[in-house]
Amino acid sequence: MAIRETWATRIGFILAAVGSAVGLGNIWRFPFLTAESGGAAFLVAYLFLVAVIGLPVILVEFVIGRESKQNVVDAFPEIGAPNWQFIGAIGALAGFVILSYYSVVGGWVIQYMVGSLTGGYAGNAEAFFGSAAEGTNAVAYDLLFMAIVAGIVSFGVRDGLERAAKVMIPSVVGLLVLLAAYGATLSGASEGYAYYLSPDMSTIVTDAIGLLPDAAGQAFFTLSLGMGVMITYASYLGEDRNMLRDSLLIVVVDTSIAILAGLAVFPFLFAQGVDPGTGGIGTTFVGLATAFASLPAGQVVGFVFFSMLLLASLTSAFSILEVIVSYAIDTFGVDRKPATLAIAAVIFLVGIPTAMSLDYLTLYDAIANQILLIGGGLLLAIFGGWFYASGASEELQKGMPGGETFTTVWIWVLRVPVVLVLAYVLYNGVLAVAGIVQGM
Ligand code: PHE
Repeated sequence: MAIRETWATRIGFILAAVGSAVGLGNIWRFPFLTAESGGAAFLVAYLFLVAVIGLPVILVEFVIGRESKQNVVDAFPEIGAPNWQFIGAIGALAGFVILSYYSVVGGWVIQYMVGSLTGGYAGNAEAFFGSAAEGTNAVAYDLLFMAIVAGIVSFGVRDGLERAAKVMIPSVVGLLVLLAAYGATLSGASEGYAYYLSPDMSTIVTDAIGLLPDAAGQAFFTLSLGMGVMITYASYLGEDRNMLRDSLLIVVVDTSIAILAGLAVFPFLFAQGVDPGTGGIGTTFVGLATAFASLPAGQVVGFVFFSMLLLASLTSAFSILEVIVSYAIDTFGVDRKPATLAIAAVIFLVGIPTAMSLDYLTLYDAIANQILLIGGGLLLAIFGGWFYASGASEELQKGMPGGETFTTVWIWVLRVPVVLVLAYVLYNGVLAVAGIVQGM
């Protein structure tokens, strides 16, 4: 194996981690789930979970990665916990399922790039989504997206990707701000904000508890948590780095982009008179397409926006495929290029049903987020809180002088609230998936 380099600069690690975190999860999944789940109450549940569950678990991945200096497979034996190695296998499986439909949605993005130039969605946003989302078009663009990701992983061009992330993040933010500002001038804006931002205080607690399972799945998905991406990325991290500071930065950037995406989408939905509860998985794309169609120079702005969204989804998809491929390389001793091609091909085949029918996409999405990522997160919390607490505490304190109090609180948060909430969420996730299967 090649000698392990550490990240040359703090920004290299941050860019890779943020590149993985920021993607379709923020811009597609967050707004549609929020719309579907009744708006502000979902936002509250999500923010709570990001802070109370997401941050502690991301730190577990960071300490495992930095102490072991290994990928998901070899990390656990390296820190003296070979019995926990199966977490790596669950992570690889989660990545497998996620990428199989993530690439379908990535294919939609490419179709919207084309549609921006040709004016294909102007005036008929819902019909355009219908023909882009399911069927042979979806399969063809899914294949194109997978081919790009496989190319990036097999040639190992991580550097290029990091440089791309440097352009991508500010561009996405800039364009979302532009859309949000334009949306604010529309007549539906205040209704949109009310739905999105003002929770009903009298029922907020019960509403938010009911929404915990979906909100937790979203928190894990958007932070790329529960499958070892952050273990791998932190394995290149120097010991002098304050991982609490880094994780806060990642969480804040990722969450802000999701909130901004909501601010950009909701005014347009309400201005159009679209009932946000009914749009389902297509809500975000319909909202954005409507926005670009009405914007001055919307064809160009739309094209640039979807290009940046494509970049954002490529940096995320890259991190998923990279975890699976390095798992295969280290477990089975295969070579990178053939392994990448074979794995990408199988993932594409497994994903075909999700390109043919949104019902399958919903099912895969539920299995990945509500069961696999949450299950992985639960195991990481049990491991970090109960079995590896002193090693984890010691590791976190490197680069964080005076962090004893924080570390103690962190371990206890992992031990009790995180474990309880994730166990509850996992149980509900299993029920939800069973419900979806029965309804199919
Ligand atoms: N976080 C990515 C997004 O929001 C998706 C992802 C999930 C990436 C899990 C890696 C692991 O788009």
